[in-house]
Amino acid sequence: MPTIVKASDTNCKRAAQMLREGYVVAFPTETVYGLGGDTFNTTALRRVYEMKSRPADNPLIAHVINAEEASTLTDHWDKRCQHLTEQFWPGPLTLIVSKATVVPDEATAGYPTIAIRSPAHAVARALLSRFGGPISAPSANRSGHVSPTSALHVADDFFETEDFLILDGGPCDLGIESTVVDMTAKIPRVLRPGNVSVDQLCEALGARVELATEHRQSISPGTSRSHYAPRTEVVLISTDDLPTTLTTAHSRCVVLAVSAIDITSPHDFIAMPKDGEAYAARLYDALRQADALQAERIIIERPKLRSGVWEAIGNRLARASAR
Ligand code: TXA
Ligand code: MG
Repeated sequence: MPTIVKASDTNCKRAAQMLREGYVVAFPTETVYGLGGDTFNTTALRRVYEMKSRPADNPLIAHVINAEEASTLTDHWDKRCQHLTEQFWPGPLTLIVSKATVVPDEATAGYPTIAIRSPAHAVARALLSRFGGPISAPSANRSGHVSPTSALHVADDFFETEDFLILDGGPCDLGIESTVVDMTAKIPRVLRPGNVSVDQLCEALGARVELATEHRQSISPGTSRSHYAPRTEVVLISTDDLPTTLTTAHSRCVVLAVSAIDITSPHDFIAMPKDGEAYAARLYDALRQADALQAERIIIERPKLRSGVWEAIGNRLARASAR
């Protein structure tokens, strides 16, 4: 069984020491929990892949304390990167830039590029500064499953893993993974939408930023169509079609909806917040809760909005429902 400990100063110190010894530890960030290993320790990096059963061709995000540390991991840190990091770091923005030769290939799955982000969460920052170097960390879930937004979610996915420390920093504020933007393209391209929106990036740069098409997103590493998915089948249904879908359903469903819908037995209902930020923060816990109800299907009311954080929510819902 993993060990969950409160993210006190002493325990951050203990986790940093474990990282130095090549162990993998789970820690909270403002987006989701990460499963971290020393970026420069190839044994630790292999452990991260093994634990998650992550495909070997899916690269990791290096977490850094600041832009100065980020610039040591790349051989091309231009004005645009500097500008974006001044505006959005620490925070939920990951930049993809060309990789410096000092970074081991295992940290980027052999890619010539590296994804870098400086998290805002106080525990992630305490761990980074105690450790004193970059920490490569994907989300702390089994590959393809819903990302964890609490220490218990991490423990659920790795309940059989021994010698595994989870720093408990409470529920994550944002609840969905960072915006990933490819800075190696002439026009920066968002591969994964998140809390930092495409419009905010355009405004900060005073230049065009593209949102990769669904097709492009699906051919990027780690952004295959089915991801962030509960075990139960998920379907997205418009508000108007919800009543008929439920009355004609032959088996038990769990409904996740913002609208107040009259749900009768045998179906279950999980109310979702109206506000986009609150919806995102609640989403993964709601999906795990719905999964635990062991219904035949999870039915999600398709959100109507598509701007700001709803863009990212729409992306995750599409992935959760893809088969
Ligand atoms: O919010 C987050 O980003 C969380 C927390 C822990 O920081 N991390 C996270 O990591 O979501 P992960 O590994 O679950 O997702 C990283 C995404 C994947 O889709 C991966 O394929 C992509 O970033 N990525 C990483 N390096 C890349 C690269 N060099 N080129 C293209 N995509 C890359
Ligand atoms: Mg992930």
